Amino acid sequence: MITNRGLLTVLQRNTALSTRLQTTVGAQEVEQRDVPLKPFEDIPYPKGLPFVKNMFTFMLNIKTAHHFHTKLRKELGDIYRLRLPGVGNDLVFISNPEDSRTLYSKDGEYPFLPGFEVFGKMRLEGLPHLYPDSPGLLTQGESWSKVRRAVQQDMMRPKSALYYVDELNETAQELCDKLAADLDDNLETVKLNYTLQKFAVDATGLMFIGSHLGVIKGNPDGTKLMAAVSGFLARFQTVAFVPEKVLKLTGIYKEVCDNMETMYNICNKKINVAIEKHKTDGSLKGTVLWKLLERCGAESPIPTIMAVDSLSAGIDTTAHTATFLLYHLAINPEKQEILFNEIDRVLGKNGNMTEAKLEEMKYLKACMQESQRIWPVAIGTSRKTQTNMVLSGYHIPADTVVIRNGILSSNDDKFYPNADKFLPERWIRGCPQHQKVDPYANLPFGHGPRACIGQRFARLELYMVAFKIIQQYRLEYHHEPIDVDFTGIGHPDREVVLKMIKRT
Ligand code: HEM
Repeated sequence: MITNRGLLTVLQRNTALSTRLQTTVGAQEVEQRDVPLKPFEDIPYPKGLPFVKNMFTFMLNIKTAHHFHTKLRKELGDIYRLRLPGVGNDLVFISNPEDSRTLYSKDGEYPFLPGFEVFGKMRLEGLPHLYPDSPGLLTQGESWSKVRRAVQQDMMRPKSALYYVDELNETAQELCDKLAADLDDNLETVKLNYTLQKFAVDATGLMFIGSHLGVIKGNPDGTKLMAAVSGFLARFQTVAFVPEKVLKLTGIYKEVCDNMETMYNICNKKINVAIEKHKTDGSLKGTVLWKLLERCGAESPIPTIMAVDSLSAGIDTTAHTATFLLYHLAINPEKQEILFNEIDRVLGKNGNMTEAKLEEMKYLKACMQESQRIWPVAIGTSRKTQTNMVLSGYHIPADTVVIRNGILSSNDDKFYPNADKFLPERWIRGCPQHQKVDPYANLPFGHGPRACIGQRFARLELYMVAFKIIQQYRLEYHHEPIDVDFTGIGHPDREVVLKMIKRT
């Protein structure tokens, strides 16, 4: 997924890019010959300053990137670039589904996802005793591919996530109880987003570590893991932004390595305990962890690496998405009631979710899709192109960083009429408001060989959070409207304070 700051660092660090000739159609042929080809230099860009070009504009608008790019798109069109210092460092932004389709179709064997290689390097150099071979999924090339191939099938199979429905009922109930226990005198939530992060860590424990971590309940081991995850996430941006030398001088490099080491060690310890337990009671049978262990071998580090990568990439993404979903339901009470009625009809006042019941819950799924359409926590996805290609009629040479501005197409009235309205019905076949839209207009989990590997688990977590809370509480919001802050992963620009009123 793309974070603005990560991109910038990639460019600063990528010396190969600076030697690129942007206009030459090199050894690789551009395939779409029938389209009149315009040179790269003709791609429009906003005015900038000498030398620094668009660097400051880019950096100053990171927080409100969605508004900034909406404005740029109006001025410059569906494709434009931001010029950064150095030859070949321009960032190309696209926002029409056709260009997204072309970009993804040229992913190749090793799609290059800018931003992740910093962590890969850190793991190999800073933690060689834990990552002697491959730094996991948060890297590039053959190292990435080796792990991805090993986990792809077991992670992406729909049944893998659904296996956890029963247990997640319990974890989601713990979340509800915690939120309710923490309500202030006004029945308003305290630290909603942080509690949702704790829920995401507990869910990850259940699914990838074979353990009830008890983070929500304050279990000491779980709390230690949560502290390491929070430390890692808090420094994620700095690592992606600040040059390595400065990171080392300030001690941040070591702190992040320590966070990653704690995450690795706790995951590894818990996985080993789960394996030992399994030997006596078969308790891991059917779990994704067991499938990974069977596929990769009990001595393989891959199951632990997958658990750590799930903690690294799946906690804030899921928690922020859940916060936005609850917020959208709170500010759209009539939609919230439709959802409540569905829950009541399918599950009753106290019923738990099951795989079969989830199948029936069309409105629940539509609410989540709609919330993610409006505010995808990943503003878009990005690739460093592996080959020459044509986007919107312009020649794009290999080694160019192209950013799919997903939030612009998913909020475009052209594809989604009344795009600013929270309208779950647009996702439901048979509803008069149902819309058939180019799927490349809305890809909150990305697409292709590097699509989010945790998406099935994330979706399930989100369904469980929304269903459990709405089944028991009516949500209201009585404060200023929130916006997304895109410094890093999209998150609410302030604490989201929801009123939770117990349903009778
Ligand atoms: C709502 C929650 C989530 C969102 C919106 C999200 C979104 C994304 C996006 C957009 C990408 C990049 C895709 C691309 O470049 O085409 C990605 C990659 C990734 N996600 Fe997620 N994600 C979420 C939850 C999770 C969870 C729960 C996990 C782990 C269980 C996870 C693990 C990963 C990993 C490891 C990658 C890198 C995959 C690779 O490069 O092979 N994500 N995610």
